[in-house]
Amino acid sequence: MGKVIMVASGKGGTGKTTTAANLGAALSARGRLTVLVDMDMGLRNLDIALGLESGIVYDFMDMLDGRCTLDDVLVKADGYENLYFIAAPQTRPVSVIEEEKIKGFWDLLRNRFEFCVADSPAGIGAGFMYTAAGADTALIVTLAETASLRDADRAVSALVEKGIEDIKLIINRIRPEMIEKKLMLNADECMDMLSVPMIGIVEDDEELIRSALKGELAVNNPESHAGTAFKNIAARLCGEIVPIMEFKKKSFWERLKEVFGN
Ligand SMILES: Nc1ncnc2c1ncn2[C@@H]1O[C@H](COP(=O)(O)OP(=O)(O)O)[C@@H](O)[C@H]1O
Ligand SMILES: [Mg+2]
Repeated sequence: MGKVIMVASGKGGTGKTTTAANLGAALSARGRLTVLVDMDMGLRNLDIALGLESGIVYDFMDMLDGRCTLDDVLVKADGYENLYFIAAPQTRPVSVIEEEKIKGFWDLLRNRFEFCVADSPAGIGAGFMYTAAGADTALIVTLAETASLRDADRAVSALVEKGIEDIKLIINRIRPEMIEKKLMLNADECMDMLSVPMIGIVEDDEELIRSALKGELAVNNPESHAGTAFKNIAARLCGEIVPIMEFKKKSFWERLKEVFGN
């Protein structure tokens, strides 16, 4: 029986889609049969992150409304073994989506895949709520800033109300030099503001942007620190114990020692 993992945030633009795509790719690279589902209707962009924008015929609403089967809606991610994708509709549906239908959808995916990673819309509106219906785990992606953490806290409360017990925090776009100058909150300060455990810290990483511009994912870029962080989170989701990366900025002497040997 697979696991449905919802990637959520509260505030927009914190890196949900980036996280979902990289975790999906990292889980599949570990040999886990994985499906990435874009639940961000109207603003779908997980397909772009995966380089799949062409070749999408059906979306999950087509399947929920009986216009196609699960096999029709599943798209194999090019260049990734064990990774499939399901698109969101390009426009928001006029009618309300029944939560029971989404629960049935998650059950279908649990039966077929080891991991189902769902990229959810920002905010705690309808799209967030039905994605949460029957999900096993929620990963809250936040930036290390008050506004983002406050919205993350609201998302956590909404998820708890919805009955999701397994909620974990990802702090994204951390900048160690800014933390050192006290211009950004550190991980402990972020954790103090929220009541959920942390599953990973991801650095603000130029290499990730470089990869994205080439239509590639950070997890496939060995130079990307963010890519390594996402791989570590995937390992933790698989039950491995991996220490959280240290971002302590090295002193001049420490760097000198590295160059000339200890
Ligand atoms: N760790 C990171 N380092 C650098 N840029 C990042 C990082 N995470 C996300 N981004 C960038 O931030 C922007 C928003 O990310 P996205 O995943 O689309 O957010 P969301 O889905 O929450 O709206 C994108 O341009 C993405 O490339
Ligand atoms: Mg997004």
